[in-house]
Amino acid sequence: MRLLPSKKVVGEIAVPPDKSISHRALMMCSMSSGVSVVNNLLESEDTLRTFRIIGELGGNFKGGFDRMEISSASWKESLRPLDCGNSGTTARLMAGVLSGKEGFHVLFGDDSLSGRPMERVVSPLKEMGASISARRDSLLPMCITGGKLRGSEHSLSVASAQVKSAILLAGIQAEGTTAVTEPHCSRDHTERLLHSMGAKISVSNKRVEVEKSELLPIRFSIPGDVSSAAFPIALAVLHENGKVTIREVGLNQGRTGFLRLLIKMGADIEMEVEESLPEPVGTIVARSSRLIGVEVGSDLIPSMIDELPLIALAGVFAEGTTTVRGAGELRKKESDRISVTVQNFRRIGVEILEHEDGFSVEGPQRITGGKVDSYGDHRIAMLFSLAGPLSREGVEVTNSNAVNVSFPGFFKTLEEVCQ
Ligand code: S3P
Repeated sequence: MRLLPSKKVVGEIAVPPDKSISHRALMMCSMSSGVSVVNNLLESEDTLRTFRIIGELGGNFKGGFDRMEISSASWKESLRPLDCGNSGTTARLMAGVLSGKEGFHVLFGDDSLSGRPMERVVSPLKEMGASISARRDSLLPMCITGGKLRGSEHSLSVASAQVKSAILLAGIQAEGTTAVTEPHCSRDHTERLLHSMGAKISVSNKRVEVEKSELLPIRFSIPGDVSSAAFPIALAVLHENGKVTIREVGLNQGRTGFLRLLIKMGADIEMEVEESLPEPVGTIVARSSRLIGVEVGSDLIPSMIDELPLIALAGVFAEGTTTVRGAGELRKKESDRISVTVQNFRRIGVEILEHEDGFSVEGPQRITGGKVDSYGDHRIAMLFSLAGPLSREGVEVTNSNAVNVSFPGFFKTLEEVCQ
């Protein structure tokens, strides 16, 4: 995809439904007793993996992704291995779900997912009684023989919503109490849904505790994905002639760290929460702004984990130094997001320094333009597509169809706002 310099970035746009909440809704409604109705599920490559896997396991879905009736799955054994594609959330959360289900289950994924660490879920789930074997001990493909689980206590060395959720989804199927403590709070969508679906759950600061629970069906609508919204918002802020409005977007505190950071850097962004159950939802308005450099340390990382590469782009336009440290987890995402961010910026004429656990950019700099690669990573494809309209000569992104993992229609949305 070739993205040209743009004169203006303006418009009111809709962003796709939240990916994290969509995965959880598909799984947790299938675990509940009764018929749930979920409006506005994300239909993207990642969430289709979860949908199809549960289908293979006896899932009960009626309707479309705009309004779906989800009844209890039968959780029959699948005769085929279950394909998680590129989706870490599918692999890790389903490992938690399947640990409590009788039968033999095999999870596998694409090349990127097959290189991502699974030890972080394998080890706690084994401790709870699941029998799991994996390639080289902790890589996909992974075989899970599920069954009776016992509750146990887990202290995570890295904050991770996927690991926490895998343990909690196993925990509601286990005898006794299961507890997870994180070093910093990660997104709490699983906890909110568990609470709304009547599970026995208590949350205090960085510790979550669950007991064996029956989940009740639920009716709710999934808000827009704030991680997808982050791209057009950043573009409007960084462009000299920008204003973008996005309505009905999720404003969960565990997800809005990047927007709060941009505001701290001087961005003119308004966020207004209009509705709050089971997730806060509202409107964001973002306008062109002059930014100043900022330092991001490890405590802020979980609330902006998927937006960290966007901070490098903000740093290119900000006055002074912008530094991200304590973000070693970025190397374990859909790509090594530190390395590919740095390499791609250098290809379009930006000077940027790579650290083991982050990066530093000295601004302001102009983006000349050139050719970059997404390395099959959706968020990298979107990040460097923003560099085009902000550049002097345009940017070509190869493997750009990776955007379909979370934001089908991304390029159409970009075309709408870039004039
Ligand atoms: C996700 C959690 C995050 C995030 C991922 C989705 C989730 O990962 O990077 O895109 O849905 O739970 P970790 O919190 O596990 O790092």
